[in-house]
Amino acid sequence: MNIFVRKPIESIVYDEEHTGERNLKRTMGAKSLVALGIGVIIGAGIFSLTGIAAAENAGPAVVIAFMIAALGCALAGMCYSEFASMIPMAGSAYTYAYATLGEFIAWVIGWDLVLEYAVGAACVAVGWSGYVTSFLKDFGIIFPQQLMMCPFDKVTLTDGTVLHGLINLPAILIICLTSILLMIGIKESSNFNIIIVIVKLVVVATFITIGISYVNTANYTPFIPPNTGKFGEFGWSGIMRAAGVIFFSYIGFDTVSTAAQEAKNPQKDIPIGILGSLAICTIIYVVFSLVLTGMVNYQDMRGDAAPVATAINLTPFPWLQKMIKVGIIAGFTSVILILLYGQSRVFFSMSRDGLLPKMFSDVHPVWHTPWRSNLLFMFFVSIFAGFVPISKLGHMTSIGTLFAFVIVCIGVIVLRKTQPNRPRPFRTPGVPGLPIAGALVCFAMMYSLGWETWMRLFVWLAVGCVVYFGYGRFHSKLAQK
Ligand code: ALA
Repeated sequence: MNIFVRKPIESIVYDEEHTGERNLKRTMGAKSLVALGIGVIIGAGIFSLTGIAAAENAGPAVVIAFMIAALGCALAGMCYSEFASMIPMAGSAYTYAYATLGEFIAWVIGWDLVLEYAVGAACVAVGWSGYVTSFLKDFGIIFPQQLMMCPFDKVTLTDGTVLHGLINLPAILIICLTSILLMIGIKESSNFNIIIVIVKLVVVATFITIGISYVNTANYTPFIPPNTGKFGEFGWSGIMRAAGVIFFSYIGFDTVSTAAQEAKNPQKDIPIGILGSLAICTIIYVVFSLVLTGMVNYQDMRGDAAPVATAINLTPFPWLQKMIKVGIIAGFTSVILILLYGQSRVFFSMSRDGLLPKMFSDVHPVWHTPWRSNLLFMFFVSIFAGFVPISKLGHMTSIGTLFAFVIVCIGVIVLRKTQPNRPRPFRTPGVPGLPIAGALVCFAMMYSLGWETWMRLFVWLAVGCVVYFGYGRFHSKLAQK
């Protein structure tokens, strides 16, 4: 059996039309697609990980890290757009790879997307938990600290005692709630998404406008704190590691391509949606992180999953504190919903192709959703959300997604050689230079994440290989044909 067998585009179209979601209307224009991108991009990365990356890796220079990560995303985003415009099907990099690079590479990307979507959702859930408990505290409701921290987290109380976490219950709660919504078939509509995007933009704009007057410029010195002697702890290696960490905050722009079948003019509008949402978010992130690190000293944000709450608490506006927290909580909920939805969709495609057991593509007779897949991931993601620290979740999500991006960048070059005549409505400029640069920047961010994160990626890919060579390869519908 050939592990590099490719799925013909005709058969992808057939599968989508006969077993995918039907009756999708082409209603989304460029603006809605940009909104879709922003809807999933702005989340825990900016509101939770910025403070941690500043405290542990880069100090105020986390601003530079945002620029480096944006560069990697823009280059990979262009490569992604070429794929998405060639095969404008509801699907993901998994589908594009299956059509062009062969089954095994498709499997690797699909398996990696689980890290992006499922572990990413767990990471956002931990950020959600931080903001919800901070919000409840504003009303005098104190949630027991041990039940909102994983066993690897600890806090030092005012009397000096060190308290270790047990389980992050609120994070598990939101994963279960969103999974149940997905099971019964509730996903965000385009209009609802636009409302959430407006809420997020208002939150960011309010934070920046008010926060700027509370910036203490002394907090910017040193702008690049000297390296401690350890790779990744401040200095330039710290900035690179911070770029790998906050890369998480850009994750999700690829989801725009999953709306290809709902786009009025996918060939033109999908690249606009991907690159437009990235551009807007980059500007927001750079300004936002500058204000945050100016308000709160980077050393005070260690382990703080709700740094915006910390910063806002420095201002004398109680209404602002609550308003911003509600906005962030709503925004996080929508990101979790979209990520978990993306997760079940990738598993649905992989299972429909025979690479995973059929139960993942079985659709509920009444709800019309792949509910077993949602149910399984509810447990799986809950375990991650309840028992793993936010920074580890962020690192794993980032390295997995960066790996998929490296493959996509290389894939563009390979395809230009192997299938030069296939129509490409959007052509990545400057091939091979630009995709090579994209792969290198993404790889540099992967490298900077450190060996522990690499080990986790290897373990994840090894498990993936066992599943593929033990199951997928023998059940692949394409190979059987
Ligand atoms: N980019 C998304 C976030 O930051 C996943 O939450």
